Amino acid sequence: MQCATCTGPVNIAVIKYWGKRNEKLILPLNSSVSVTLHQNELRTKTTIAASPNFTKDQIWLNGVEEDINNSRLQAVISAVKRRARKRKSDGETNPRLNWKLHIVSENNFPTAAGLASSAAGYGCLVYTLAKLLNVKGELSDIARQGSGSACRSVYGGFVTWDKGTNEDGSDSKARQIAPHTHWPELSVLILVVSDQTKHTSSTAGMQTTVETSELLKQRLSGLQTKEDQMTDAIMNKDFKTFAEITMKESNQLHAYNNIHEDVKVSYTFDAGPNACLFMLDSEVPRFYSLVKHFFLPENGHTTIQGLPITEQTLHTEEIPKFKLSKQNGSVKYVIHTKPGPGPQVLEDPSESLVDDKGWPKLISEKT
Ligand code: DP6
Repeated sequence: MQCATCTGPVNIAVIKYWGKRNEKLILPLNSSVSVTLHQNELRTKTTIAASPNFTKDQIWLNGVEEDINNSRLQAVISAVKRRARKRKSDGETNPRLNWKLHIVSENNFPTAAGLASSAAGYGCLVYTLAKLLNVKGELSDIARQGSGSACRSVYGGFVTWDKGTNEDGSDSKARQIAPHTHWPELSVLILVVSDQTKHTSSTAGMQTTVETSELLKQRLSGLQTKEDQMTDAIMNKDFKTFAEITMKESNQLHAYNNIHEDVKVSYTFDAGPNACLFMLDSEVPRFYSLVKHFFLPENGHTTIQGLPITEQTLHTEEIPKFKLSKQNGSVKYVIHTKPGPGPQVLEDPSESLVDDKGWPKLISEKT
């Protein structure tokens, strides 16, 4: 049996991908830009085992067996295998390429609640399968065929997905603009309001937008300039411009910046209800204290996950300026993280999600 275990990150778009020009190949209408989040806080872990003893391909996600005949899964598995077959150094066809696969994947965060789980999932699956089959080089074009946003999760730091123009999608791939170490002062807070599965998938949501929205056409016309400005803002670590463009890409929640007469925090929402906030480290204690006062539960349960936050005493005279009523409990908890690196290989066999016969560890322990 051959085995590989890797972890892969979530990414949050600051210039959003929304709308496809080709549904099957998953080619986007516009280029997008994202920040890869650190895997210490949010990550997918995937083990893939290949063995001549397995009778069929199987996949387990978060402990539950799922249908491997899903067309997107099949597309990415075949694409990695095709690339492995092409490798000249391998000489004769490697018999291992015909061995059946057991794929076991787990997220350490709520799946499908708008926390980019499909991006982390497909990014990590493609990376792990490539590791197992010894495929080197570009993988983002394969990950894209699993879920568009997944192509950005095969890189760390600050990433662009160039939409490309070729009909076959060969130039629609992601590239790193800057590594995560480029902007160490940047913090990310995720306000988790719901960890329930979202009602409408991004795939369906963007189809409806493409079919019905006049606004989408307008949006696309100005987007190249926005993307260039965003790339410059990242390269120059210009938080104000980064934040303003990020928020123009989203909407709502202006109060905090108005009170400080400066841009201190920027927000972005994906398809789920959870807010993803960018701010410099210096702003985190103060902002968290406000979130705690207005939105977090008052039951004394831990409300910070991830990196520690030093709380600050609120200036009581400031609170009325926000013109907000307390809604404690509306935010369940806060995840504090940072930009982070791309997928990682875990060499330690104890990290594997399968037992020595290639079955998911949790399931085999139960039976
Ligand atoms: C709102 O990549 O999940 O997160 O390609 O249909 O699988 P499919 O969609 P998906 O869409 C993500 C949309 C978004 C914005 C973004 O990440 O750019």
